[in-house]
Amino acid sequence: MAQAKKAVAKTSRKQTTRSAVRSAVKIYQNYIGGKWVPSESGEMFEDLNPADNRDIIGRFPLSTSDDVNRAVNAAQEAFDRWRHTPAPRRAELLFRLGEILIANKDRFAADMTREMGKVLKETGGDVQEAIDCTYYTAGEGRRLHGFTTPAEMPDKFAMCVRQPVGLCGLITPWNFPMAIPSWKLIPALVCGNTVVLKPAEDTPLSTYNLVMACEEAGIPPGVVNLVTGYGETVGAAMTNHPALRLIAFTGSTETGRIVASACAERNAICSLEMGGKNAIIVMDDADIDLAIEGAVWGAFGTSGQRCTASSRLIVHKRVYKQFVSKLVEHVKTLRVGNGADPKTDVGPVINADAVEKIMGYIQIGRNEDGARLACGGKRLSRGDYAHGYFIEPTVFADATADMRIAQEEIFGPVTTVLPTNSLEDAISIANGVRYGLSAAIYTQNVNRAFRAMNELYTGIFYVNASTIGAEVHLPFGGTKATGNGHREAGTQVLDIFSEWKSIYVDFSGKLQRAQIDMIETL
Ligand code: UN1
Repeated sequence: MAQAKKAVAKTSRKQTTRSAVRSAVKIYQNYIGGKWVPSESGEMFEDLNPADNRDIIGRFPLSTSDDVNRAVNAAQEAFDRWRHTPAPRRAELLFRLGEILIANKDRFAADMTREMGKVLKETGGDVQEAIDCTYYTAGEGRRLHGFTTPAEMPDKFAMCVRQPVGLCGLITPWNFPMAIPSWKLIPALVCGNTVVLKPAEDTPLSTYNLVMACEEAGIPPGVVNLVTGYGETVGAAMTNHPALRLIAFTGSTETGRIVASACAERNAICSLEMGGKNAIIVMDDADIDLAIEGAVWGAFGTSGQRCTASSRLIVHKRVYKQFVSKLVEHVKTLRVGNGADPKTDVGPVINADAVEKIMGYIQIGRNEDGARLACGGKRLSRGDYAHGYFIEPTVFADATADMRIAQEEIFGPVTTVLPTNSLEDAISIANGVRYGLSAAIYTQNVNRAFRAMNELYTGIFYVNASTIGAEVHLPFGGTKATGNGHREAGTQVLDIFSEWKSIYVDFSGKLQRAQIDMIETL
Protein backbone atom coordinates (compact mmCIF):
# COMPACT_ATOMS: atom_id res chain seq x y z
CA MET A 1 0.00 0.00 0.00
CA ALA A 2 0.78 3.46 0.67
CA GLN A 3 2.89 5.70 2.73
CA ALA A 4 6.03 6.06 3.64
CA LYS A 5 6.16 5.04 0.07
CA LYS A 6 8.20 8.07 0.85
CA ALA A 7 9.66 7.12 4.16
CA VAL A 8 13.12 6.52 2.82
CA ALA A 9 12.97 8.43 -0.42
CA LYS A 10 13.48 12.15 -0.51
CA THR A 11 10.38 13.82 -1.77
CA SER A 12 10.82 15.98 -4.81
CA ARG A 13 8.09 18.28 -3.59
CA LYS A 14 10.16 19.96 -0.97
CA GLN A 15 12.59 21.10 -3.62
CA THR A 16 10.12 23.57 -5.01
CA THR A 17 11.00 26.98 -3.65
CA ARG A 18 9.09 30.10 -4.51
CA SER A 19 10.42 32.78 -2.27
CA ALA A 20 7.87 35.36 -3.44
CA VAL A 21 4.99 33.29 -2.14
CA ARG A 22 6.87 31.85 0.76
CA SER A 23 6.64 34.81 3.10
CA ALA A 24 2.84 34.52 3.26
CA VAL A 25 2.90 30.78 3.78
CA LYS A 26 1.69 29.44 7.10
CA ILE A 27 4.32 27.95 9.39
CA TYR A 28 3.43 24.80 11.32
CA GLN A 29 5.18 23.22 14.26
CA ASN A 30 5.75 19.91 15.94
CA TYR A 31 3.64 19.02 18.97
CA ILE A 32 5.80 17.74 21.81
CA GLY A 33 4.82 17.47 25.47
CA GLY A 34 1.70 19.54 24.87
CA LYS A 35 3.59 22.43 23.24
CA TRP A 36 3.82 23.53 19.62
CA VAL A 37 7.54 23.80 18.94
CA PRO A 38 9.86 24.21 15.96
CA SER A 39 12.38 21.55 14.99
CA GLU A 40 15.80 21.69 16.65
CA SER A 41 17.13 21.95 13.09
CA GLY A 42 15.28 25.20 12.46
CA GLU A 43 14.63 23.89 8.93
CA MET A 44 11.30 23.42 7.21
CA PHE A 45 9.86 21.58 4.24
CA GLU A 46 6.92 22.59 2.09
CA ASP A 47 3.55 20.93 1.79
CA LEU A 48 2.41 21.45 -1.81
CA ASN A 49 -0.88 20.97 -3.61
CA PRO A 50 -0.49 18.08 -6.07
CA ALA A 51 -3.15 19.60 -8.34
CA ASP A 52 -1.15 22.85 -8.55
CA ASN A 53 2.32 22.83 -7.11
CA ARG A 54 2.49 26.62 -7.10
CA ASP A 55 0.10 26.43 -4.17
CA ILE A 56 2.23 26.07 -1.03
CA ILE A 57 -0.06 24.91 1.75
CA GLY A 58 2.35 25.30 4.59
CA ARG A 59 5.87 24.89 5.86
CA PHE A 60 6.46 22.09 8.36
CA PRO A 61 9.42 21.28 10.60
CA LEU A 62 12.13 19.23 8.93
CA SER A 63 12.73 17.34 12.12
CA THR A 64 15.80 15.43 13.25
CA SER A 65 16.58 12.63 15.67
CA ASP A 66 16.85 15.30 18.41
CA ASP A 67 13.18 16.13 17.91
CA VAL A 68 12.32 12.43 18.05
CA ASN A 69 14.26 12.11 21.30
CA ARG A 70 12.37 15.03 22.81
CA ALA A 71 9.06 13.56 21.70
CA VAL A 72 9.93 10.15 23.13
CA ASN A 73 10.93 11.79 26.44
CA ALA A 74 7.59 13.61 26.52
CA ALA A 75 5.74 10.36 25.80
CA GLN A 76 7.73 8.68 28.59
CA GLU A 77 6.86 11.42 31.07
CA ALA A 78 3.16 11.21 30.25
CA PHE A 79 2.94 7.42 30.21
CA ASP A 80 2.47 6.61 33.90
CA ARG A 81 -0.35 9.06 34.41
CA TRP A 82 -2.08 8.07 31.19
CA ARG A 83 -1.91 4.33 31.80
CA HIS A 84 -3.30 4.86 35.31
CA THR A 85 -6.19 6.93 33.96
CA PRO A 86 -9.15 4.50 33.91
CA ALA A 87 -9.87 3.34 30.37
CA PRO A 88 -13.47 4.70 30.43
CA ARG A 89 -12.01 8.15 31.29
CA ARG A 90 -9.48 7.89 28.48
CA ALA A 91 -12.35 6.98 26.19
CA GLU A 92 -14.36 10.05 27.24
CA LEU A 93 -11.61 12.25 25.81
CA LEU A 94 -11.68 10.21 22.63
CA PHE A 95 -15.45 10.63 22.29
CA ARG A 96 -14.86 14.37 22.63
CA LEU A 97 -12.25 14.06 19.88
CA GLY A 98 -14.89 12.37 17.69
CA GLU A 99 -17.21 15.34 18.22
CA ILE A 100 -14.48 17.79 17.23
CA LEU A 101 -13.76 15.81 14.06
CA ILE A 102 -17.45 15.90 13.16
CA ALA A 103 -17.65 19.65 13.75
CA ASN A 104 -14.65 20.24 11.49
CA LYS A 105 -15.28 17.57 8.88
CA ASP A 106 -15.74 19.91 5.90
CA ARG A 107 -12.69 22.01 6.73
CA PHE A 108 -10.51 18.97 7.29
CA ALA A 109 -11.74 17.43 4.03
CA ALA A 110 -10.95 20.64 2.11
CA ASP A 111 -7.45 20.77 3.64
CA MET A 112 -6.95 17.14 2.71
CA THR A 113 -8.02 17.59 -0.89
CA ARG A 114 -5.64 20.52 -1.14
CA GLU A 115 -2.64 18.60 0.14
CA MET A 116 -3.39 15.05 -1.02
CA GLY A 117 -5.40 15.60 -4.19
CA LYS A 118 -8.29 13.16 -3.89
CA VAL A 119 -11.77 14.48 -4.57
CA LEU A 120 -13.79 16.13 -1.80
CA LYS A 121 -16.24 13.25 -1.48
CA GLU A 122 -13.34 10.94 -0.78
CA THR A 123 -11.57 13.24 1.65
CA GLY A 124 -14.90 13.63 3.47
CA GLY A 125 -14.90 9.81 3.55
CA ASP A 126 -11.37 9.79 4.95
CA VAL A 127 -12.34 12.13 7.80
CA GLN A 128 -15.49 10.06 8.32
CA GLU A 129 -13.38 6.93 8.64
CA ALA A 130 -11.39 8.68 11.37
CA ILE A 131 -14.66 9.64 13.09
CA ASP A 132 -16.02 6.09 12.84
CA CYS A 133 -12.76 4.66 14.12
CA THR A 134 -12.74 7.11 17.01
CA TYR A 135 -16.28 6.32 18.16
CA TYR A 136 -15.99 2.59 17.62
CA THR A 137 -12.63 2.23 19.33
CA ALA A 138 -13.42 4.67 22.15
CA GLY A 139 -16.26 2.30 23.01
CA GLU A 140 -13.54 -0.17 23.95
CA GLY A 141 -12.79 2.04 26.94
CA ARG A 142 -15.75 0.34 28.65
CA ARG A 143 -14.86 -3.11 27.35
CA LEU A 144 -11.18 -3.91 26.77
CA HIS A 145 -12.33 -7.39 27.65
CA GLY A 146 -10.03 -9.83 29.29
CA PHE A 147 -11.21 -13.25 30.43
CA THR A 148 -11.35 -15.63 33.32
CA THR A 149 -10.73 -19.32 33.00
CA PRO A 150 -10.65 -22.24 35.47
CA ALA A 151 -7.39 -22.87 37.26
CA GLU A 152 -6.17 -26.43 37.54
CA MET A 153 -5.90 -26.29 41.35
CA PRO A 154 -8.64 -25.87 43.95
CA ASP A 155 -9.00 -22.46 45.56
CA LYS A 156 -7.13 -20.79 42.78
CA PHE A 157 -8.46 -18.21 40.34
CA ALA A 158 -7.12 -17.54 36.82
CA MET A 159 -7.72 -14.50 34.64
CA CYS A 160 -6.17 -12.48 31.86
CA VAL A 161 -6.13 -8.71 31.40
CA ARG A 162 -4.85 -6.34 28.73
CA GLN A 163 -2.12 -3.90 29.61
CA PRO A 164 -0.63 -1.16 27.45
CA VAL A 165 2.57 -2.00 25.61
CA GLY A 166 4.15 1.37 26.47
CA LEU A 167 5.45 4.03 24.11
CA CYS A 168 4.39 3.57 20.50
CA GLY A 169 5.84 5.03 17.30
CA LEU A 170 3.28 5.48 14.52
CA ILE A 171 4.47 6.02 10.94
CA THR A 172 1.64 6.79 8.55
CA PRO A 173 1.06 7.23 4.81
CA TRP A 174 -0.18 10.06 2.61
CA ASN A 175 -3.09 8.31 0.89
CA PHE A 176 -5.39 8.24 3.94
CA PRO A 177 -3.73 11.00 5.93
CA MET A 178 -6.34 11.21 8.69
CA ALA A 179 -8.02 7.80 8.60
CA ILE A 180 -4.86 5.70 8.86
CA PRO A 181 -3.29 7.76 11.67
CA SER A 182 -6.59 7.36 13.52
CA TRP A 183 -6.56 3.57 13.03
CA LYS A 184 -3.32 3.50 14.98
CA LEU A 185 -3.66 6.45 17.33
CA ILE A 186 -7.11 5.79 18.79
CA PRO A 187 -6.56 2.14 19.77
CA ALA A 188 -3.07 3.03 21.08
CA LEU A 189 -4.62 5.67 23.34
CA VAL A 190 -7.61 3.70 24.54
CA CYS A 191 -5.24 0.91 25.57
CA GLY A 192 -3.24 3.38 27.69
CA ASN A 193 -0.16 3.91 25.52
CA THR A 194 1.48 7.21 24.69
CA VAL A 195 2.62 7.89 21.13
CA VAL A 196 5.01 9.66 18.80
CA LEU A 197 3.35 10.13 15.43
CA LYS A 198 5.15 10.82 12.16
CA PRO A 199 2.86 11.66 9.24
CA ALA A 200 3.95 11.28 5.63
CA GLU A 201 5.90 14.30 4.43
CA ASP A 202 3.47 14.77 1.53
CA THR A 203 0.44 15.23 3.79
CA PRO A 204 1.40 16.58 7.21
CA LEU A 205 -1.55 19.00 7.48
CA SER A 206 -4.29 16.37 7.80
CA THR A 207 -2.45 14.64 10.62
CA TYR A 208 -1.68 18.01 12.19
CA ASN A 209 -5.45 18.68 12.13
CA LEU A 210 -6.05 15.37 13.91
CA VAL A 211 -3.46 16.18 16.58
CA MET A 212 -4.86 19.72 17.05
CA ALA A 213 -8.23 18.08 17.62
CA CYS A 214 -6.63 15.79 20.24
CA GLU A 215 -5.31 18.86 22.04
CA GLU A 216 -8.71 20.54 21.89
CA ALA A 217 -10.34 17.36 23.24
CA GLY A 218 -8.16 17.68 26.33
CA ILE A 219 -5.87 14.72 25.79
CA PRO A 220 -3.08 15.47 28.28
CA PRO A 221 0.33 16.86 27.25
CA GLY A 222 2.84 14.23 26.13
CA VAL A 223 0.23 11.56 25.38
CA VAL A 224 0.22 12.42 21.66
CA ASN A 225 3.36 13.86 20.10
CA LEU A 226 3.68 14.89 16.46
CA VAL A 227 7.02 15.05 14.66
CA THR A 228 7.04 15.93 10.97
CA GLY A 229 9.85 15.23 8.53
CA TYR A 230 11.35 12.52 6.37
CA GLY A 231 11.43 8.79 6.77
CA GLU A 232 15.18 8.50 6.54
CA THR A 233 15.64 10.84 9.51
CA VAL A 234 12.50 10.93 11.66
CA GLY A 235 11.21 7.48 10.68
CA ALA A 236 14.63 5.91 11.14
CA ALA A 237 15.15 7.63 14.52
CA MET A 238 11.79 6.30 15.65
CA THR A 239 12.31 2.72 14.49
CA ASN A 240 15.73 2.65 16.17
CA HIS A 241 14.72 4.36 19.41
CA PRO A 242 15.14 1.93 22.33
CA ALA A 243 12.24 3.45 24.31
CA LEU A 244 9.64 2.99 21.57
CA ARG A 245 8.34 -0.45 22.44
CA LEU A 246 6.20 -0.69 19.33
CA ILE A 247 6.33 0.63 15.78
CA ALA A 248 3.14 0.57 13.73
CA PHE A 249 3.81 1.32 10.07
CA THR A 250 1.70 1.62 6.95
CA GLY A 251 3.55 2.04 3.68
CA SER A 252 5.38 0.17 0.99
CA THR A 253 6.56 -3.40 1.45
CA GLU A 254 10.13 -2.24 0.75
CA THR A 255 10.11 0.36 3.53
CA GLY A 256 8.19 -2.00 5.81
CA ARG A 257 11.01 -4.51 5.54
CA ILE A 258 13.51 -1.86 6.68
CA VAL A 259 11.25 -0.98 9.61
CA ALA A 260 10.81 -4.64 10.53
CA SER A 261 14.57 -5.32 10.45
CA ALA A 262 15.28 -2.35 12.70
CA CYS A 263 12.59 -3.51 15.12
CA ALA A 264 13.94 -7.08 15.09
CA GLU A 265 17.40 -5.80 16.05
CA ARG A 266 16.07 -4.31 19.27
CA ASN A 267 13.21 -6.73 19.85
CA ALA A 268 10.47 -4.13 19.42
CA ILE A 269 6.91 -5.05 18.49
CA CYS A 270 6.27 -4.22 14.86
CA SER A 271 2.95 -4.03 13.06
CA LEU A 272 3.03 -3.60 9.29
CA GLU A 273 0.40 -2.79 6.67
CA MET A 274 1.94 -2.76 3.23
CA GLY A 275 1.38 -3.38 -0.46
CA GLY A 276 -1.46 -4.89 -2.44
CA LYS A 277 -2.17 -6.20 -5.94
CA ASN A 278 -5.85 -6.83 -5.53
CA ALA A 279 -7.94 -8.75 -8.00
CA ILE A 280 -11.59 -8.61 -8.98
CA ILE A 281 -12.76 -11.87 -10.58
CA VAL A 282 -15.67 -11.39 -12.98
CA MET A 283 -17.47 -14.65 -13.80
CA ASP A 284 -19.62 -15.25 -16.89
CA ASP A 285 -22.80 -15.14 -14.78
CA ALA A 286 -21.94 -11.74 -13.24
CA ASP A 287 -24.03 -8.61 -13.50
CA ILE A 288 -21.55 -7.01 -15.90
CA ASP A 289 -22.65 -3.41 -15.45
CA LEU A 290 -22.36 -3.75 -11.69
CA ALA A 291 -18.94 -5.36 -12.05
CA ILE A 292 -17.78 -2.49 -14.23
CA GLU A 293 -18.98 0.09 -11.73
CA GLY A 294 -17.10 -1.79 -9.01
CA ALA A 295 -13.97 -2.09 -11.14
CA VAL A 296 -13.95 1.61 -12.04
CA TRP A 297 -14.48 2.67 -8.44
CA GLY A 298 -11.88 0.21 -7.18
CA ALA A 299 -9.26 1.01 -9.80
CA PHE A 300 -9.63 4.78 -10.15
CA GLY A 301 -11.01 5.96 -6.80
CA THR A 302 -8.23 7.86 -5.00
CA SER A 303 -6.51 7.81 -8.43
CA GLY A 304 -5.69 4.17 -7.74
CA GLN A 305 -3.58 5.16 -4.74
CA ARG A 306 -5.03 2.70 -2.27
CA CYS A 307 -3.41 -0.44 -1.01
CA THR A 308 -6.81 -1.99 -1.67
CA ALA A 309 -7.06 -0.71 -5.28
CA SER A 310 -8.52 -3.06 -7.90
CA SER A 311 -5.36 -3.26 -9.98
CA ARG A 312 -6.21 -6.59 -11.65
CA LEU A 313 -9.49 -7.52 -13.30
CA ILE A 314 -9.66 -11.24 -14.06
CA VAL A 315 -12.54 -11.71 -16.45
CA HIS A 316 -14.17 -14.88 -17.81
CA LYS A 317 -13.60 -15.35 -21.54
CA ARG A 318 -17.32 -15.61 -22.25
CA VAL A 319 -17.90 -12.02 -21.11
CA TYR A 320 -14.40 -10.69 -21.67
CA LYS A 321 -14.97 -8.72 -24.89
CA GLN A 322 -18.15 -7.17 -23.63
CA PHE A 323 -16.52 -6.33 -20.28
CA VAL A 324 -13.45 -4.68 -21.78
CA SER A 325 -15.38 -2.57 -24.28
CA LYS A 326 -17.88 -1.37 -21.67
CA LEU A 327 -15.10 -0.74 -19.17
CA VAL A 328 -13.13 1.37 -21.62
CA GLU A 329 -16.27 3.28 -22.59
CA HIS A 330 -16.89 4.06 -18.91
CA VAL A 331 -13.28 4.95 -18.09
CA LYS A 332 -13.15 7.41 -20.98
CA THR A 333 -15.96 9.39 -19.36
CA LEU A 334 -13.99 9.95 -16.13
CA ARG A 335 -13.06 13.56 -15.63
CA VAL A 336 -9.53 14.14 -14.42
CA GLY A 337 -8.92 17.35 -12.54
CA ASN A 338 -8.48 19.20 -9.28
CA GLY A 339 -10.18 17.26 -6.49
CA ALA A 340 -11.67 20.50 -5.17
CA ASP A 341 -13.80 20.79 -8.32
CA PRO A 342 -17.07 18.90 -7.72
CA LYS A 343 -17.09 17.80 -11.37
CA THR A 344 -13.81 15.89 -10.97
CA ASP A 345 -13.86 12.10 -10.82
CA VAL A 346 -10.14 11.43 -10.64
CA GLY A 347 -7.71 13.80 -8.92
CA PRO A 348 -3.94 14.08 -9.37
CA VAL A 349 -1.41 11.59 -8.07
CA ILE A 350 0.61 12.62 -5.08
CA ASN A 351 3.87 14.02 -6.47
CA ALA A 352 6.46 14.06 -9.24
CA ASP A 353 8.06 10.81 -8.08
CA ALA A 354 4.69 9.10 -8.33
CA VAL A 355 4.22 10.40 -11.88
CA GLU A 356 7.60 9.02 -12.82
CA LYS A 357 6.92 5.64 -11.28
CA ILE A 358 3.43 5.28 -12.77
CA MET A 359 4.49 6.47 -16.23
CA GLY A 360 7.39 4.01 -15.96
CA TYR A 361 4.90 1.19 -15.41
CA ILE A 362 2.81 2.36 -18.35
CA GLN A 363 5.96 2.10 -20.48
CA ILE A 364 6.66 -1.34 -19.08
CA GLY A 365 3.09 -2.42 -19.84
CA ARG A 366 3.36 -1.26 -23.44
CA ASN A 367 6.90 -2.26 -24.28
CA GLU A 368 8.40 -4.83 -21.94
CA ASP A 369 5.15 -6.68 -21.11
CA GLY A 370 3.45 -6.14 -24.45
CA ALA A 371 -0.05 -5.77 -23.01
CA ARG A 372 -2.67 -3.92 -25.05
CA LEU A 373 -3.19 -0.31 -23.95
CA ALA A 374 -6.98 -0.09 -24.15
CA CYS A 375 -7.29 3.52 -22.97
CA GLY A 376 -5.37 6.27 -21.21
CA GLY A 377 -1.62 6.01 -20.85
CA LYS A 378 -0.67 9.67 -20.99
CA ARG A 379 0.39 12.28 -18.50
CA LEU A 380 -1.82 15.37 -18.74
CA SER A 381 0.25 18.50 -18.61
CA ARG A 382 -1.44 21.24 -20.63
CA GLY A 383 -3.74 24.06 -19.55
CA ASP A 384 -5.24 23.45 -16.11
CA TYR A 385 -3.06 20.39 -15.74
CA ALA A 386 0.20 22.27 -16.25
CA HIS A 387 1.23 22.57 -12.62
CA GLY A 388 -0.16 19.31 -11.27
CA TYR A 389 0.50 15.59 -11.36
CA PHE A 390 -2.27 14.27 -13.58
CA ILE A 391 -2.33 10.94 -15.37
CA GLU A 392 -5.12 9.61 -17.57
CA PRO A 393 -7.06 6.67 -16.14
CA THR A 394 -5.37 3.78 -17.90
CA VAL A 395 -6.57 0.29 -18.78
CA PHE A 396 -4.32 -2.48 -20.06
CA ALA A 397 -6.12 -5.45 -21.60
CA ASP A 398 -5.15 -8.93 -22.81
CA ALA A 399 -2.53 -9.21 -20.11
CA THR A 400 -1.03 -12.40 -18.76
CA ALA A 401 -0.44 -13.21 -15.12
CA ASP A 402 3.35 -13.08 -15.33
CA MET A 403 3.54 -9.52 -16.71
CA ARG A 404 5.07 -6.94 -14.41
CA ILE A 405 1.96 -4.75 -14.62
CA ALA A 406 -0.01 -7.78 -13.37
CA GLN A 407 2.45 -8.53 -10.55
CA GLU A 408 3.81 -5.28 -9.15
CA GLU A 409 2.02 -2.58 -7.21
CA ILE A 410 1.72 0.50 -9.42
CA PHE A 411 -0.21 2.69 -6.95
CA GLY A 412 -1.75 4.91 -9.57
CA PRO A 413 -4.72 5.12 -11.98
CA VAL A 414 -3.79 1.99 -13.91
CA THR A 415 -5.58 -1.34 -14.02
CA THR A 416 -4.92 -4.53 -15.96
CA VAL A 417 -7.48 -6.91 -17.43
CA LEU A 418 -6.62 -10.60 -17.71
CA PRO A 419 -8.77 -13.22 -19.42
CA THR A 420 -9.59 -16.50 -17.69
CA ASN A 421 -11.51 -19.63 -18.67
CA SER A 422 -12.51 -21.01 -15.27
CA LEU A 423 -12.94 -20.14 -11.63
CA GLU A 424 -10.00 -22.36 -10.70
CA ASP A 425 -7.75 -20.55 -13.17
CA ALA A 426 -9.01 -17.15 -11.94
CA ILE A 427 -8.28 -18.09 -8.34
CA SER A 428 -4.81 -19.27 -9.21
CA ILE A 429 -4.07 -16.01 -11.08
CA ALA A 430 -5.49 -13.97 -8.20
CA ASN A 431 -3.33 -15.83 -5.67
CA GLY A 432 -0.26 -15.73 -7.88
CA VAL A 433 1.21 -12.48 -6.58
CA ARG A 434 3.39 -11.66 -3.59
CA TYR A 435 0.64 -9.63 -1.88
CA GLY A 436 -2.58 -10.73 -0.16
CA LEU A 437 -4.68 -7.77 0.93
CA SER A 438 -8.08 -7.71 -0.76
CA ALA A 439 -9.96 -9.66 -3.47
CA ALA A 440 -13.46 -9.70 -4.92
CA ILE A 441 -15.70 -11.83 -7.09
CA TYR A 442 -18.69 -10.85 -9.18
CA THR A 443 -20.99 -13.83 -9.68
CA GLN A 444 -24.64 -14.76 -9.13
CA ASN A 445 -23.66 -18.28 -8.13
CA VAL A 446 -23.42 -18.90 -4.40
CA ASN A 447 -21.16 -21.93 -4.81
CA ARG A 448 -18.65 -19.95 -6.83
CA ALA A 449 -18.76 -17.10 -4.34
CA PHE A 450 -18.06 -19.41 -1.41
CA ARG A 451 -15.38 -21.35 -3.33
CA ALA A 452 -13.56 -18.08 -4.07
CA MET A 453 -14.01 -16.92 -0.46
CA ASN A 454 -12.40 -20.13 0.72
CA GLU A 455 -9.53 -20.25 -1.73
CA LEU A 456 -8.38 -16.65 -2.08
CA TYR A 457 -5.51 -16.10 0.32
CA THR A 458 -6.21 -12.50 1.31
CA GLY A 459 -7.14 -10.65 4.49
CA ILE A 460 -10.25 -9.09 2.93
CA PHE A 461 -12.76 -10.53 0.47
CA TYR A 462 -15.85 -9.10 -1.20
CA VAL A 463 -18.75 -10.68 -3.10
CA ASN A 464 -20.38 -8.45 -5.73
CA ALA A 465 -18.52 -5.41 -4.44
CA SER A 466 -15.18 -3.82 -5.22
CA THR A 467 -11.87 -4.49 -3.43
CA ILE A 468 -11.92 -1.11 -1.67
CA GLY A 469 -14.11 0.24 1.09
CA ALA A 470 -13.25 -1.73 4.22
CA GLU A 471 -15.23 -0.70 7.33
CA VAL A 472 -13.59 0.21 10.62
CA HIS A 473 -15.23 -2.40 12.81
CA LEU A 474 -13.80 -5.33 10.86
CA PRO A 475 -10.14 -6.29 10.97
CA PHE A 476 -8.05 -4.76 8.19
CA GLY A 477 -4.85 -6.26 6.83
CA GLY A 478 -3.42 -8.89 4.57
CA THR A 479 -1.36 -11.98 4.06
CA LYS A 480 2.06 -12.60 2.49
CA ALA A 481 4.01 -9.43 1.62
CA THR A 482 1.05 -7.25 2.65
CA GLY A 483 1.57 -7.62 6.37
CA ASN A 484 3.24 -9.44 9.21
CA GLY A 485 0.26 -11.15 10.76
CA HIS A 486 -1.38 -8.22 12.56
CA ARG A 487 -4.76 -6.70 11.84
CA GLU A 488 -5.74 -3.09 12.40
CA ALA A 489 -9.31 -1.91 13.02
CA GLY A 490 -12.00 -4.09 14.56
CA THR A 491 -11.28 -5.26 18.09
CA GLN A 492 -8.35 -7.21 16.68
CA VAL A 493 -6.29 -3.99 16.70
CA LEU A 494 -6.28 -4.19 20.49
CA ASP A 495 -3.95 -7.17 20.15
CA ILE A 496 -1.39 -4.84 18.58
CA PHE A 497 -1.63 -2.10 21.17
CA SER A 498 -2.01 -4.16 24.34
CA GLU A 499 -0.22 -7.10 25.84
CA TRP A 500 -1.83 -9.88 27.81
CA LYS A 501 -1.08 -10.38 31.47
CA SER A 502 -2.11 -13.75 32.91
CA ILE A 503 -2.94 -13.52 36.59
CA TYR A 504 -3.25 -16.36 39.11
CA VAL A 505 -4.75 -15.82 42.57
CA ASP A 506 -4.23 -18.69 44.99
CA PHE A 507 -6.59 -18.38 47.95
CA SER A 508 -5.94 -21.88 49.40
CA GLY A 509 -3.45 -20.59 51.96
CA LYS A 510 -0.95 -23.29 51.08
CA LEU A 511 1.70 -24.01 48.47
CA GLN A 512 0.12 -25.56 45.40
CA ARG A 513 2.59 -26.58 42.74
CA ALA A 514 1.21 -26.50 39.19
CA GLN A 515 2.02 -29.52 37.05
CA ILE A 516 3.35 -31.29 40.17
CA ASP A 517 0.82 -31.63 42.97
CA MET A 518 -2.09 -34.01 42.49
CA ILE A 519 -5.50 -32.49 42.96
CA GLU A 520 -6.32 -33.95 46.36
CA THR A 521 -9.95 -32.93 46.37
CA LEU A 522 -10.82 -35.33 43.58
C1 UN1 B 1 -5.34 2.08 2.13
O1 UN1 B 1 -5.51 2.08 0.95
O2 UN1 B 1 -4.20 2.22 2.60
O3 UN1 B 1 -10.66 -0.23 2.31
C2 UN1 B 1 -6.44 1.98 3.10
C3 UN1 B 1 -10.38 0.87 1.86
C4 UN1 B 1 -10.21 2.04 2.81
C5 UN1 B 1 -8.87 2.01 3.42
C6 UN1 B 1 -7.77 1.91 2.45
N1 UN1 B 1 -11.22 1.97 3.84
O4 UN1 B 1 -10.24 1.07 0.67
